[in-house]
Amino acid sequence: MTAVPTPDMNALWMPFTANRQFKADPRLLVAAEGMYYTSHDGRQVLDGCAGLWCVNAGHGRRPIVEAVQRQVAELDYAPGFQMGHPAAFTLAERLVGLTEGKMGQVFFTNSGSESVDTALKIALAYHRVRGEGSRTRLIGRERGYHGVGFGGLSVGGIGPNRKLFGPLLPGVDHLPHTHNLEHNAFSKGQPAWGAHLADELERIVALHDASTIAAVIVEPMAGSTGVLMPPQGYLQRLREICDKYGILLIFDEVITGFGRLGAPFAFQRLGVVPDLMTTAKGITNGTVPMGAVFCRPGIYEAFMSGPESAIELMHGYTYSGHPLACAAGLATLDIYAEEKLLTRALELEGYFGESLHSLRGQPNVIDIRNLGLVGAVELSSRDGKPGARAYDVFLECYRRGVMVRYTGETIAVSPPLIVERQHIDQLVGTLGEVLRSVA
Ligand SMILES: Cc1ncc(COP(=O)(O)O)c(C=O)c1O
Repeated sequence: MTAVPTPDMNALWMPFTANRQFKADPRLLVAAEGMYYTSHDGRQVLDGCAGLWCVNAGHGRRPIVEAVQRQVAELDYAPGFQMGHPAAFTLAERLVGLTEGKMGQVFFTNSGSESVDTALKIALAYHRVRGEGSRTRLIGRERGYHGVGFGGLSVGGIGPNRKLFGPLLPGVDHLPHTHNLEHNAFSKGQPAWGAHLADELERIVALHDASTIAAVIVEPMAGSTGVLMPPQGYLQRLREICDKYGILLIFDEVITGFGRLGAPFAFQRLGVVPDLMTTAKGITNGTVPMGAVFCRPGIYEAFMSGPESAIELMHGYTYSGHPLACAAGLATLDIYAEEKLLTRALELEGYFGESLHSLRGQPNVIDIRNLGLVGAVELSSRDGKPGARAYDVFLECYRRGVMVRYTGETIAVSPPLIVERQHIDQLVGTLGEVLRSVA
């Protein structure tokens, strides 16, 4: 493919991007197929991140493209308030089916951030409709990422994301994060150390009293903060403490949902069932914005008690269950089922993990961690310049035809679930070369 000219860039304020740095040396993507992007300068770039952890079935999948094309021609939009369209109900049924009876309903949103804010609101309202309206506190975790809405930011635990935006929601507290290189460096799978950190919830309960706490929200595997795996027994312990005090447990599965850890959802892989689960990204293979909040049986029913003419939850989005997103979602679930992609990460985890851990000993590498088809390589920082080395590694990988992500000083990789061994070799091989070349 020939080079595509770069457009004038001033009018676009880019999200989570160093705008001036980017615009001085842009990286534009102009096409995508399977495991590869085409860049504007005509190169093939291996997608080591499934887009932003969302293109789980790989790029350019014809059945999804065609389903969306058919849908836009047939029913381009239908209101979701006091109206419906068949595909939304069918998709909800299929999604709930993936949970093997553990979840009862889904509520549709358009993004991970909206899913998180929706789940927090459902948690608060659930206690209220059951007569426990004093439960208003929300507990997040340091280093957690739950999107950019005010709810998600408030329970989130990434300082730079929060600091410009005022006091955020009141009545929020945070568990400590579980990342500790002294104990867990170079762990494969779930690290052995750290289950006791869940007991900090007991301390928070003692401080505020359980009767004031509505919910705890954590990512079963923290992705955007730099890929932090749950210590063995940690999530089980959180579940036990939540049960003991009647606190709802919310898993934010926006990244882990749809096969990333080798099961449809992380809760199935890790053996701990949450009360609410937020998803987005892989639900439509990244093609049309969509999210879904899953509710454990009993939650929806708790709202179905007033007069039948009353709207039970005053919440929703113009595009909740949008026909194009539903069409994309149904076609995506078909591909996941036909190609057994939701469990494929389990088969490849060994090869992927061993490949990644072969980078141990490369310059500046202080940790490598992996689970399912997610991995991270953490680097030491240059003096006084945190994140600069990882940025250079990201840039050089891109120059050499491989897209990785960087966050802080961590390189994160999460390839589409259609990845083959040769792609893993290219990904890890290039990353190794780059680590040796970047000072
Ligand atoms: C765990 C988690 N929650 C929420 C979000 C926010 O999703 P979105 O960017 O679709 O709003 C993300 C995005 O990466 C995420 O990783």
